Amino acid sequence: MKASIVVLPGDGIGPEVASAGVAVLRQIAERFGHDFTFTEHAIGGDAIDRFGDPLPPATREACLAADAILLGAVGGPKWSDPNAPVRPEQGLLAMRKLLGVFANVRPLKLHPRAAALSPLKPERTKGVDLVFIRELTGGIYFGAKTRTDDAATDECRYTVGEIERVMRHAFDLARTRRKKVTSVDKANVLETSRLWRSVATRIAADYPDVELEHQLVDSMAMHLLTRPADYDVIVTENMFGDILTDEASVLAGSLGLSPSASLGGPGAGVYEPIHGSAPDIAGKALANPLGTILSVAMLLRHSLGLSTEADTVEAAVDYVMENGNLTRDLGGDATTHAVTRAVLDACEAKAEAA
Ligand SMILES: NC(=O)c1ccc[n+]([C@@H]2O[C@H](COP(=O)([O-])OP(=O)(O)OC[C@H]3O[C@@H](n4cnc5c(N)ncnc54)[C@H](O)[C@@H]3O)[C@@H](O)[C@H]2O)c1
Repeated sequence: MKASIVVLPGDGIGPEVASAGVAVLRQIAERFGHDFTFTEHAIGGDAIDRFGDPLPPATREACLAADAILLGAVGGPKWSDPNAPVRPEQGLLAMRKLLGVFANVRPLKLHPRAAALSPLKPERTKGVDLVFIRELTGGIYFGAKTRTDDAATDECRYTVGEIERVMRHAFDLARTRRKKVTSVDKANVLETSRLWRSVATRIAADYPDVELEHQLVDSMAMHLLTRPADYDVIVTENMFGDILTDEASVLAGSLGLSPSASLGGPGAGVYEPIHGSAPDIAGKALANPLGTILSVAMLLRHSLGLSTEADTVEAAVDYVMENGNLTRDLGGDATTHAVTRAVLDACEAKAEAA
């Protein structure tokens, strides 16, 4: 198949991990006879430096025309002045809004080799296999903001339509898994959460084969640490999801391991590792590329419909996790390049065997 893939390397370790992802996509294209074209565009701090805009017009146009988007990471101390007129993260928010990608999907599986690095005891993390779906284009991050000398406000607003579409995404996904949805809110305090809960209950009636449970966000924060293996699909609003997914990510043993996809818009999905630009290790070849490579597997599956190719990449990552020398965050001393090479070799072996 033909596919046009926009690559947004961004800042810090973003370019290092994005190039690992592109290497895997090139190899898959060659091995399975696809024609993927890659075009690189600026986003975040890099785009501010070069164009004075964290999401320049050329990047916007390319994203709107793409079949899929692979992103590294944005941000860093160079652009972190709170009084700066533009910030790298604005590029991300603007891109999500532009593409209408309202569902951020973050799978979390604990590989046995990383279990020792998880802050939780192995008996607590055994069997963890969950997916977070975070609403991504509504809520408090996009509401009206006011600021005077002695007060500030951030409006949190959700419409029924915004809740419905992300809820359906969660139920559809649960149907392909263990058929359980946990909807997280703060319905004992917030009006938006009471609306969230009533829409979740109404949508659940269309999915009688899927169990729905409601969970308050504060107790969810505790249960994620005490019984994470009990969850299957967890769906929540933008800010709660932002916080809970970061909490969940440490269970995996390293931030560098977890992928994500932002989906649901009329056009391309956006695929990126969940970690940031890691300025402390940028340029040192220490970045773990596996979160980005697993994001590439999601890109192949969700945007291009290439499930055999996605399975091949995931199996290759599993093999390297099992047998390979890993990067420092996972207790090894391999470079980003060496881990990427090991995944490419494993992909080749898996494709050969298939
Ligand atoms: N989606 C994004 O682009 C995104 C997400 C989160 C943070 N950020 C930005 O990134 C910058 C740094 O943020 P932070 O330090 O809070 O979070 P971070 O994820 O960049 O780093 C946190 C810690 O994890 C380590 N780490 C992260 N990714 C790793 C990888 N692939 N391999 C090995 N180690 C890895 C880092 O070295 C650091 O010690 C900030 O400007 C922040 O705003 C961007």
